[in-house]
Amino acid sequence: MQTKQNKTESQEQAEYLLKTAIEYYEAENYKNALKNLSHAHKVFLAHKNICKVSICLSLTGLIKYINKTESYYKSLLLLEDSRFLAESTSKKIDKAVNKYAFGQIYLYEKKYYDAISSLEYASEKLDEIPYLKIKSYELIALIYIELQDNKKAFEYLIKGIEYSKLYNSKTAYEKLRNLSEKLIYENTSINYSENAKSAREQEQNTSLLIAFSKIARTVNAESNIDKLLITIAGQTKLVLNADRCTLFLYDKEKNELWSKVALGLESEEIRFSADKGFAGAALRTGETIRIKDAYSDKRFNQDIDKKTGYKTYNLLCMPIHNIKYETIGVFQVINKKSGDFTEADEEILLAIGTNAGIAIENNILFNMQQKMLTDQQRLFEGFIDTLSASIDARDKITLGHSNRVRLYAELISNKLNLNSDVINIISKAAMLHDIGKIGIRDDVLQKKGTLTKEEYEHIKEHVKITYDILCKTNINSSFNEITEIAASHHEKYDGSGYFRGLKGEEIPLGGRILAISDVFDAITSVRHYRDRMPFKDALNIIIEGRGKHFDPKITDAFLNLSCASIVNILINEYNMSFKQEDKFILLAVKIKEFADILNKNNLNEKELKIVETFKKYYIREN
Ligand SMILES: [Fe+2]
Repeated sequence: MQTKQNKTESQEQAEYLLKTAIEYYEAENYKNALKNLSHAHKVFLAHKNICKVSICLSLTGLIKYINKTESYYKSLLLLEDSRFLAESTSKKIDKAVNKYAFGQIYLYEKKYYDAISSLEYASEKLDEIPYLKIKSYELIALIYIELQDNKKAFEYLIKGIEYSKLYNSKTAYEKLRNLSEKLIYENTSINYSENAKSAREQEQNTSLLIAFSKIARTVNAESNIDKLLITIAGQTKLVLNADRCTLFLYDKEKNELWSKVALGLESEEIRFSADKGFAGAALRTGETIRIKDAYSDKRFNQDIDKKTGYKTYNLLCMPIHNIKYETIGVFQVINKKSGDFTEADEEILLAIGTNAGIAIENNILFNMQQKMLTDQQRLFEGFIDTLSASIDARDKITLGHSNRVRLYAELISNKLNLNSDVINIISKAAMLHDIGKIGIRDDVLQKKGTLTKEEYEHIKEHVKITYDILCKTNINSSFNEITEIAASHHEKYDGSGYFRGLKGEEIPLGGRILAISDVFDAITSVRHYRDRMPFKDALNIIIEGRGKHFDPKITDAFLNLSCASIVNILINEYNMSFKQEDKFILLAVKIKEFADILNKNNLNEKELKIVETFKKYYIREN
């Protein structure tokens, strides 16, 4: 009998196979797609996961049809089976995939209207499978191109472009963008060769397509909401041949409509009650308002005209919806340059508004997400600082230890050419590596003199405590790495360290960097029971530890640092400044070379100068 865990694992594997089958389908690698679907289908069937069985069958039927492995009728039979299964579940996704599969087959069979209705249904409910959602829009657009309705084709291409941006699907984005550009090019050429259409119609169609294209490009490139609104409003004004266009957004909390986009108007921000004016009426009723003479209608809010000295004659007001069909704002187009606004203008505004609504909402969501990430990052940094300050507060003698370990670790990491994200994680681990000392008794932590065996064992526990504290503080995705690095700072390269006794590269790279940074700071700092160690002895401990306590490569990176970079950290403790001429001398000396000098008996003048200069900053009490 299968255990519960095995059951979950095999279902997870089947989920993975299904996911990769869709990727194969996208890459038109139908053979592998069918292979994965067949495996996944068997597993889902064994676990009676009807929804997933139906999805596998729908996709199998579709791919076999595209790949000409099965005839149209046999493929439809598979799809019928999967539809039957989907209808017996309460899920939406299986029905949506089934509709999608029917839609694509109908398209290939040139049953365009059936295809559109199936794909439209599918596109609305395929959020769980972004590729199929985007592909639905692409297929609908292709059908409208076949039907020579380029305006509709554009609408769906733009939807596809927006979703491919939202789901970060670069390939789909490029494909749809190329298609839309090709469409503009072809449409422009066709328009100018058709004598039947009036010049005005040609001009409007062309500018409409260009406007759509500009909106689509801005939507994808612009993260600034003001600029996004300006582009949409500006393009709308041009296409509708109007004097002004404003795009108001609805502030639900204050029940106000506001805009920073006021092309042609001088006011910086317009804000008014959502109960007022035509814009308010469009917002409340959800209906489009087309007015020939604004002043003769009592709904007209004259405040803005009075404020700006502008005179409104005719206007077109239309609510803008998001993807859930909630009203998020209102388009207000004022004073058509020739005649009144027409039904055709309404249609154009509707097409722009549908896309604008999704674009604006995406933009707002994107900015909210960015703000949340920044806030979270700030909170995270503050949290690290507070935790690390609490270690310093606990043990005044090692004050600044965590920070110096961080500085040494950053020097070594840079020497090893690690990337900035990795260095950032190591820095945070350095700041937190001794947090477990919170759990060590005061009499042991602050003991003056040598520790007994029992006391030493107790102090060693701080690493496990660090690990436990950080494990419980899992505040973001990088925290696991920070925890592992911090909790391995007493591991030794030869496996004789604690608390896990890891060996060689089992120890995280950051942990190996912290090990040398931690030891170096400990032996070169003043402690409860002793002065700074002579620098020669300190360096010899590091050199002798190469390959035993410390990773040889990391030891070499450390020994290749300049003496000046070490002094730069040491002087923090005494609040000293580093004289320019001394810096110049010590910059040219690597730690390894300095160790050789210190181990020599007879020093030449230059070497004596180096030692003297260094000693000025490596202050010992005696
Ligand atoms: Fe430690």
